[in-house]
Amino acid sequence: MGKTDDRQHPRVIVRHPHGQGGVDEILPGPGLRTGVLQAGAAGVRMGTRFLAAAESNAHPDYVQALIAAGAEDTVLTTRFEVDCPMCPATHRVVRSALELAESLPDRPLGEMDVSGSPYPIPRYFGFPPTRQMTGRIAAMACYAGQSVAAIHGVQPAGEIVAELVSGTENLLERHVQTAVQ
Ligand SMILES: Cc1cc2nc3c(=O)[nH]c(=O)nc-3n(C[C@H](O)[C@H](O)[C@H](O)COP(=O)(O)O)c2cc1C
Repeated sequence: MGKTDDRQHPRVIVRHPHGQGGVDEILPGPGLRTGVLQAGAAGVRMGTRFLAAAESNAHPDYVQALIAAGAEDTVLTTRFEVDCPMCPATHRVVRSALELAESLPDRPLGEMDVSGSPYPIPRYFGFPPTRQMTGRIAAMACYAGQSVAAIHGVQPAGEIVAELVSGTENLLERHVQTAVQ
């Protein structure tokens, strides 16, 4: 399925995208700003949206998959755990990455450059694809929270933060005005 307009789906996900509990994965736009504020949260932890920041080291093919994906194009899995003992056991990824990895033979998907030396990337490797990786990027650990719905292109990190802050301020103002009426 393609990108949906997140304004049609305002909600807060009361579940960590990696299955660790807590109010953590937050849908964008009104979902972020009204849901979290109404719940009385002091802060949120965000991840996916910044993968598409201009400063991000995420592989460009991974970023393109995020731009194309809607919240419904993500899936929780336990598959991407190879060679990554610190990676959370349950994690949310772009569904097509999981499906492609499952369809491929159990051979290295590509290589990554580590201090000038090439290392093979096993199928279901737990690290997400970076610019230092080559090969079947689309079959690697393309982590994505449902907040992926808010990603429409590459933006500087400062611009993403400014959008989040100004949108939050506007909604907070409206929320306060509604409350005092
Ligand atoms: C590429 C990527 C890697 C992550 N790796 C971890 C991790 O190793 N351990 C962890 O607890 N959370 C990890 N997270 C989850 C973030 O800390 C954060 O909880 C989550 O991204 C928030 O939801 P959002 O991505 O929808 O903004 C990761 C998130 C992303 C996008």
